[in-house]
Amino acid sequence: MTKAEPAPARHVAIIMDGNGRWAKKRHLPRVLGHQRGVEAVRRAVRGARELGLEALTLYAFSTENWSRPDEEVSDLMSLMKRFILSDLEEFAAAGVRLKIIGDYRAFKPDVVELVDNAIARTQDNIGTTLAVALNYGSRDEIARAATKAAQKGPITPETIGAELDTADMPPLDLLIRTSGEVRLSNFLLWQAAYAEMLFMDVLWPDFTAEHLREALETFAMRERRYGGR
Ligand code: IPE
Ligand code: IPE
Ligand code: MG
Repeated sequence: MTKAEPAPARHVAIIMDGNGRWAKKRHLPRVLGHQRGVEAVRRAVRGARELGLEALTLYAFSTENWSRPDEEVSDLMSLMKRFILSDLEEFAAAGVRLKIIGDYRAFKPDVVELVDNAIARTQDNIGTTLAVALNYGSRDEIARAATKAAQKGPITPETIGAELDTADMPPLDLLIRTSGEVRLSNFLLWQAAYAEMLFMDVLWPDFTAEHLREALETFAMRERRYGGR
């Protein structure tokens, strides 16, 4: 029997790491690393569309990132706002649907309003889903999902899964982390149960559509077994 062609990736998630180190290497302030990181986000979203991904999930701000200095948190918020203002029209016109995972309502009201408007503006789009993880932590997500599931009936993997922030997305196929760190940092712990993992030695600001294409090629060579033989 010939081996079945591997199914193409539908849902890719990225832990966008290494902005600080990118800046440090160049003796620049961290905020410039984050600024260049936004350009990499733009390239990744365009790449995901061109490669025909159904969903791209990007880790932008974790529940633990509040522990960074106030100035850095506020720089990240400003960059997020600027990105939505500058890029929403392009992505909306290209059929991208914006979704947020995580408890983004904890952000300042102006950010929440901008995000809500961006979600509403793209809600009927049927192209690539761009899920941005904002104030996201996997443990928080699972706790929220379990609470909701328990209110409705018995807790099972299925009833918890149905309440996760990612419930309306395809299963996670490939989880990428840039910067060379090899850890999940509280990202998609549940969804990663059978995802393929790829740790890339590129700092996030240097990430290009070509890196994404290479990652999908690597994914296509993996054999997924799901516990079978
Ligand atoms: C990732 O880059 C961006 C966010 C966490 C928001 P870092 O800021 O973590 O960069 P490093 O890890 O210090 O290089
Ligand atoms: C994970 O990166 C969070 C995001 C990319 C948003 P961190 O840089 O915050 O993770 P740690 O601290 O290295 O684990
Ligand atoms: Mg980091």
